[in-house]
Amino acid sequence: MTAATIISGKQISEEIRKGIALEVEQLSKQNVRPGLAVVLVGDDPASHVYVRNKEKACQDLGYYSEVHRLSADSSQEEVLALVDKLNAQDSIHGILVQLPLPKHIHEKAVIDAISVEKDVDGFHPVNVGNLVIGDDSLLPCTPAGVIEMIKRTGIEIAGKHAVVIGRSNIVGKPVSLLLQRENATVTMCHSRTANMAEIARQADILVVAIGRANMIDASYVKPGAVVIDVGMNRLENGKLAGDVDFESVKQVSGPITPVPGGVGPMTITMLMQNTLLAAKRLNGLA
Ligand code: GUN
Repeated sequence: MTAATIISGKQISEEIRKGIALEVEQLSKQNVRPGLAVVLVGDDPASHVYVRNKEKACQDLGYYSEVHRLSADSSQEEVLALVDKLNAQDSIHGILVQLPLPKHIHEKAVIDAISVEKDVDGFHPVNVGNLVIGDDSLLPCTPAGVIEMIKRTGIEIAGKHAVVIGRSNIVGKPVSLLLQRENATVTMCHSRTANMAEIARQADILVVAIGRANMIDASYVKPGAVVIDVGMNRLENGKLAGDVDFESVKQVSGPITPVPGGVGPMTITMLMQNTLLAAKRLNGLA
C-alpha cells in the first residue's frame, strides 16, 4: 500500500502568507496598515505561547500589533474598558481576547463587547449568526483553516460525507456549518454519541476536535478517508499530540494532517487573513 499523503499546514500557511504579504504591500500605498490587538489575562502558559506566536506573525507580515498582558486578578470592568478603547482605536482592525479567561471574568460578556467588525476570532454572536445563515461574516480561524487546507490539497468537498467529532463553539459547530456550506453531507458526533467508531468509519472526510490525546485509532477510519486532526494536547513528557493516533491511522487513511505542523499554523494564518479583511472593510476597500 502507498503511504498516506501528509497535509502540511505549515507549507500551505506559507503559501497563503505570501499572498497576504502582497496585499499588505498594496494596502500600504493607500496608507492602510492592518492592526491587531491581542488581550491576554493571567498566566496560562499555553496561552502565552499562542500569543507570542500571533505577535510574531504580525511582525513577519508588517502588521501593527499591540499585546495587552493583564494580571490574573484584573477585574471584568478593566477588561471591558480595554475592549471599548480598542473598539474605538483607528489603528486597530482586529481584536482577539485569548481564551480561556480567569474564572471570575464572564467570557460571554467580553466577547459580546468586541465590535462585530473587529471580531477576528469570529466568536461574536452576530458573526456566529451570519455564519449559520450563510451571510458574510468574519469566520472563526481554526474552522476556516480546516476548510482552506482541504481545498488547497485539491480535495473535493461537495457530495462527500464529512463526520465531525466534537461540538465545541470554537471548532466542532462552526466547522460542521462550513463543511455543509461547501455541500458536504455532515454528521456531528460528540461525547454522548453511541457507536462512534462505526459512524466515523462512514466518513470520506473525518474532522476530529475532541481534546483527548491519540483517541482516534485506525478502527475509526475508512480506508482512504481524509483525516483532519484539530487536537493540541500537551503530554506529560512535554510533547504535543493530536486527538488522532497518527502512526496507527496513517496506515489506513488517505491524506492526513500531522500534529504539530497541521491545523495549528493554519489557525494563525487565518487570523492574519481575517485581520487583513477587517482592515480593508473598515477602510471601505472591501
Ligand atoms: N484559545 C484557544 N483557541 C483560541 C482561539 O481560537 N481564539 C482565542 N481567542 N482563544 C483561544
